[in-house]
Amino acid sequence: MEHSENFKAVLEEKTREAESIIAVYLPKEEGFAKELAKAMNYSMTAGGKRLRPLLLQESFRLFGGTGEAVKPFMAAMEMIHTHSLIHDDLPAIDNDDYRRGRLTNHKVFGEGFAILAGDGLLNYAYECILNNALAWGENTPGHIRAAQEIARRAGVSGMVAGQSIDLLSEHREPNEATLQYIHTHKTADLLTAPLLAAAYIAGADEKAISALETFGLCVGLAFQIDDDLLDVLGDAKDLGKQTGMDAQRGKMTWPSLVGVEAAQKKSRELWTRAEEALSVFGDSAWFLRAFAEALAKRKK
Ligand code: IPE
Ligand code: IPE
Ligand code: MG
Ligand code: MG
Ligand code: MG
Repeated sequence: MEHSENFKAVLEEKTREAESIIAVYLPKEEGFAKELAKAMNYSMTAGGKRLRPLLLQESFRLFGGTGEAVKPFMAAMEMIHTHSLIHDDLPAIDNDDYRRGRLTNHKVFGEGFAILAGDGLLNYAYECILNNALAWGENTPGHIRAAQEIARRAGVSGMVAGQSIDLLSEHREPNEATLQYIHTHKTADLLTAPLLAAAYIAGADEKAISALETFGLCVGLAFQIDDDLLDVLGDAKDLGKQTGMDAQRGKMTWPSLVGVEAAQKKSRELWTRAEEALSVFGDSAWFLRAFAEALAKRKK
């Protein structure tokens, strides 16, 4: 397909665009709380694939959305994700020293500031979304529904819940039901949230929303199995984080449950299911399709 041939260049361009949108929303490093903003921006500007803002923007485009409406949501999704990473890396959780090719937030700013930087990003994300909703006046039912979807998938029945079971499952006998719960919530929820948020803002119909929900779940589950596999097989330089940490912490992972090869097979099946979920959109979903294909082969 002619589209996929220039996919790499299009992805680079879209990632640059996402970077510049995120930059607009970063807190200013000034005033009395300057050190807090510095700690927040340290992790926000460390790179990263910017998957969640890109998924949000692509989902919006899929439903014909154009213009400014999704920009604060894109920045907010990256803030919520970055908050999850800063807290995930803390000594009390995964105790990691490297993230996005840099020392982790707590290694540079100390544990107290890393906790606060995460708190700051999480709250600022919703502040950006709500400022935008207020500015849109009464035409915001889609925005409010989108914000609710993000909060639901990020919080106590979403990512945070997944992280809690991840933590409770350390050094336990792995089983598929628990792993499915952990991966669905700690990872897939934060990848599905931007897809659905954009669909609500654009006013997509139920059939489209259900297809995107399946796509997000399959992408998320495959993405986390691949993350677990990369921790065993990947290169720390490419990944920007240390490898071999899951075994050290006794994490429940797909490789620990079924071994590397069966985990690879499971991931391939999920990537295929993700692609199938997009079939209802035809050629208009070409970018999401190519994006999933590229992610299935990722090294970082
Ligand atoms: C890392 O997410 C955490 C997982 C859900 C596995 P990403 O792999 O999207 O991290 P960045 O944003 O590119 O750093
Ligand atoms: C993280 O899963 C999911 C989050 C909610 C941050 P991991 O703990 O496996 O992610 P990495 O390997 O540290 O990026
Ligand atoms: Mg973790
Ligand atoms: Mg971790
Ligand atoms: Mg991991």
